[in-house]
Amino acid sequence: MSDPASPISFYEQVGGRPFFERLVGVFYEGIADDPVLRPMYPEEDLGPARERMLLFLEQYWGGPTTYSERRGHPRLRMRHASFPVNPDARDRWLAHMRRAVDAVELPPLLEATLWDYLQRAAYAMVNTFESTGIGPTAAGRDGHGLSVTARNDEPTKE
Ligand code: HEM
Repeated sequence: MSDPASPISFYEQVGGRPFFERLVGVFYEGIADDPVLRPMYPEEDLGPARERMLLFLEQYWGGPTTYSERRGHPRLRMRHASFPVNPDARDRWLAHMRRAVDAVELPPLLEATLWDYLQRAAYAMVNTFESTGIGPTAAGRDGHGLSVTARNDEPTKE
């Protein structure tokens, strides 16, 4: 039972662990197929990375604090310092997250809250503007059909 004096966390509002498992599951399907991002992940098995992301997001949104019990303080920018996160990598990461957010079909206010955070976090993670030379050549790279636009983001005619 929830205590009426304490507001319900975002974690609870979206449905707890099953929600974050679905979100992270769709996201990592995209990572697995991404020719630029996949080579950045040091382990052959993406399972442990998926688990770390799941635990981090659960903790961030008010769920269990297992992430910090296992990994310590998140210090995400520091933990990404060894990976070349340039704007192309950021946009690809966001495109996979966009697909995942669309797949989980949240009510609009919760979706906007989640997406706003993910965008800000991804922009904050950029640590280089150099081309990495990983994956298809960066020159003329067109994003390969990946989109960071929300499903319902069609411009509205006033
Ligand atoms: C912007 C583009 C990003 C790229 C290319 C990227 C890439 C990576 C890579 C290659 C790893 C190592 C995988 C592992 O072994 O855990 C990692 C770890 C991680 N990333 Fe990202 N990331 C990005 C943005 C973000 C953002 C925005 C968040 C949070 C909202 C995030 C959360 C995490 C977490 C929690 C870990 C595991 C940290 C740990 O405990 O070691 N990443 N990321």
